Amino acid sequence: MYLYPRWIRAWHMINALMFLILIATGLSMQYTDKNSTFYMVGFAMSVRWHNFAAIVLTINYIAFVTGNLISKNGGHYKIKKENFVQDLISQAKFYGFGMFKGEKHPFPVTEKSKFNPLQKITYVFAMYVAFPFLIISGIGLFFPEITIDRFFGVSRLILTDVLHITMGFFLSIFMIIHIYTCTLGRTPFSLFKGMITGYHEHDEEHVD
Ligand code: HEM
Repeated sequence: MYLYPRWIRAWHMINALMFLILIATGLSMQYTDKNSTFYMVGFAMSVRWHNFAAIVLTINYIAFVTGNLISKNGGHYKIKKENFVQDLISQAKFYGFGMFKGEKHPFPVTEKSKFNPLQKITYVFAMYVAFPFLIISGIGLFFPEITIDRFFGVSRLILTDVLHITMGFFLSIFMIIHIYTCTLGRTPFSLFKGMITGYHEHDEEHVD
């Protein structure tokens, strides 16, 4: 089944690469001080690479949103209200117990619906909630003069920074869980292969 068009694969490849650079340089900046030896990249280089990767990530994100607005890929991110909670619970039960007992996927992948309910909600949260906050707070740190001076007596830089690192933290946790769930296809590597070739392999052999 052809599920991942070329533009989504290109977006995803750039996104994943920039994200890894942002995590390595972000953590290095966070933990660099004159008494600390725990950092992967020196401070000045971290700042340069973090800024570069953030600009590429932002342009890439605009391409992702535009692509989803003008192509039918955006339809996969629409959440239906009916049976919303029940569907999330059945998918969670499958991840928690069912898959270890060889049960069938409750929401098999189809061309109309490539994400299961849990995938959908986490992708929507990551891409349409956390990502915009991450980018906006990043712009605020890049141009501190455009942010409000004080909010309830707290410095603008502290607030913007806390928002930025919180979103960065959530998205990093998202990425770890995302990579784990991507090993749950027909074989541990089939979903990764799909993101390179564009084709999704059916899961039947894995669950029967
Ligand atoms: C090295 C890091 C990563 C790897 C190996 C990876 C792997 C994958 C794979 C195999 C898929 C296709 C499976 C599926 O979801 O159906 C996928 C889809 C996706 N990934 Fe990742 N991913 C990585 C990082 C990220 C990051 C950092 C984000 C966002 C913060 C992200 C967001 C997404 C989204 C939104 C999709 C669905 C795209 C679509 O079809 O519309 N991924 N990823």
